[in-house]
Amino acid sequence: MDKKLDGRWNHNIHYYDIALAAAPMARKALDVGTGDGLLAARLAENVDEVTGIDSDNETLTNAQKNMSADIAWIAGDVLMYPLPEAHYDLVTAVATVHHFPDLATGLERLARLTAPGGTLVVIGCARSSIAQDYALELVGAVQHQVLSRRRGYWQHNAPVQMDFPHTYTQVKGIATGVLPGMIWRRLPLWRYAIIWGKPE
Ligand SMILES: C[S@@+](CC[C@H](N)C(=O)[O-])C[C@H]1O[C@@H](n2cnc3c(N)ncnc32)[C@H](O)[C@@H]1O
Repeated sequence: MDKKLDGRWNHNIHYYDIALAAAPMARKALDVGTGDGLLAARLAENVDEVTGIDSDNETLTNAQKNMSADIAWIAGDVLMYPLPEAHYDLVTAVATVHHFPDLATGLERLARLTAPGGTLVVIGCARSSIAQDYALELVGAVQHQVLSRRRGYWQHNAPVQMDFPHTYTQVKGIATGVLPGMIWRRLPLWRYAIIWGKPE
């Protein structure tokens, strides 16, 4: 990764290790809604072929300018762009799927892009609705205070959408239907993780 971007911290970056650890043998990776491209750059340290796609042209142009890593950058909508299906043995989407007009359709698309035997990792944002969610938000608030003081909070340049259309419970229900056998994790820093292995 470009040295000046290394060491930055925010709630998305905090969870990149989940994506990086999910498919350590991946050779072809797609980062969806790549934004500033930091996860794509981390992936490129170990993965032969990395593609970063983002529908926001300006963000993508900046990512391309700031990154020295060998990454194929695509300005386009992942739901429409003619990407090769069943091709990527790792597909990642961090803080992106709540931007999709329809979550189930979007997850189906990401599943189709994933190669048989490959892994899809979604780190996403949603709304709290049950006691367990609110309890985790308190843990997250403490974690945020400690980590942002220690590491500094880096505000990314990508478009944000803070109006989350679903609760965590709803996302889990939709993902269970679309991605059978997926692993679900609630994460304290206002995120969840879905890890899904596509059958061979
Ligand atoms: C909140 S940012 C997250 C950026 C990055 N993944 C990160 O870890 O910081 C969400 C990004 O998803 C992109 N995005 C939203 N819908 C998209 C779509 N349908 N296809 C491609 N990119 C999309 C937005 O342009 C934005 O850059």
